[in-house]
Amino acid sequence: MDFSRIADQGLVLLGCGKMGSAMLAGWLERGLPPAEVWVVDPHPSDWVRTQGVNLNAPLPESPAIALVAVKPQMMREALPGLHRLGGGGTLFVSVAAGTPISAYEEMLGANTPIVRAMPNTPAAVGRGITALIGNARASADDLDTAERLLAAVGQTVRLDSEAQMDAVTGVSGSGPAYVFHLIETLAAAGQAQGLSADLAMTLAKATVAGAGALAEAAEESPEQLRINVTSPNGTTQAALEVLMDAETGFPPLLKRAVAAAADRSRELSRG
Ligand SMILES: NC(=O)c1ccc[n+]([C@@H]2O[C@H](COP(=O)([O-])OP(=O)(O)OC[C@H]3O[C@@H](n4cnc5c(N)ncnc54)[C@H](OP(=O)(O)O)[C@@H]3O)[C@@H](O)[C@H]2O)c1
Repeated sequence: MDFSRIADQGLVLLGCGKMGSAMLAGWLERGLPPAEVWVVDPHPSDWVRTQGVNLNAPLPESPAIALVAVKPQMMREALPGLHRLGGGGTLFVSVAAGTPISAYEEMLGANTPIVRAMPNTPAAVGRGITALIGNARASADDLDTAERLLAAVGQTVRLDSEAQMDAVTGVSGSGPAYVFHLIETLAAAGQAQGLSADLAMTLAKATVAGAGALAEAAEESPEQLRINVTSPNGTTQAALEVLMDAETGFPPLLKRAVAAAADRSRELSRG
């Protein structure tokens, strides 16, 4: 990854919890010199203390990037510390769920280039997916820079409008939890069929992880992959008749679940 802009001016990471640490680990692995990173966090973890980054030290004059990874409810307390970096020289990238670009513009000035990003928890193992959208001041170069930084923890996609962020939150942002629940309930269903808890959980985890990997790697669509393993009147078909039921199956259930998450995201954005 080309870190030259950061190497000259530095990168500030505000908040180094789960998401901040996952990103920092990805950047360091990809060759970002730790001396170019300034971490601001009131309670830094043992891990971050040993990475050779500048920790709660005076910030550079005009860092290339300020990456904001504090909880949305801490934003109004944490962001004023970076206020003097607003106004143009520093690109702000935020991964906070539910905080709209307008809130950053209000706190930092409308002339500040801002990229809002929505990652998800598989970022912790480099398998996240992050959706990005910039404000009017963010240039094509700024979006490329933000995308390269977030690519350190997985795939990236760009949005056409900030309004899409609520639906993205409902699908990929909150989505890992739906899949964890699928694993839990698939294992419980296996137990109900007489398997031990351990065996059922091993089968459920490997099945979800393996099917996910196959869906990503295969040229066929997930629909075709499903059809390929469904022999007429076979076992899979018996289960899919339950799961694909238009009244009680996955289609109406997931539609409602994703709508609930997106609605909540809209509510949170309004503050
Ligand atoms: N985890 C995810 O998968 C995920 C996915 C999408 C978006 N996000 C977003 O990423 C952001 C961070 O989430 P997270 O899961 O990484 O949370 P987290 O683990 O709680 O990390 C937040 C970090 O910020 C620190 N902090 C609190 N107040 C601060 C301040 N005034 N200045 C600097 N740092 C401060 C916290 O320290 P203390 O612990 O001492 O308070 C903590 O280390 C959130 O806005 C969330 O919406 C996370």
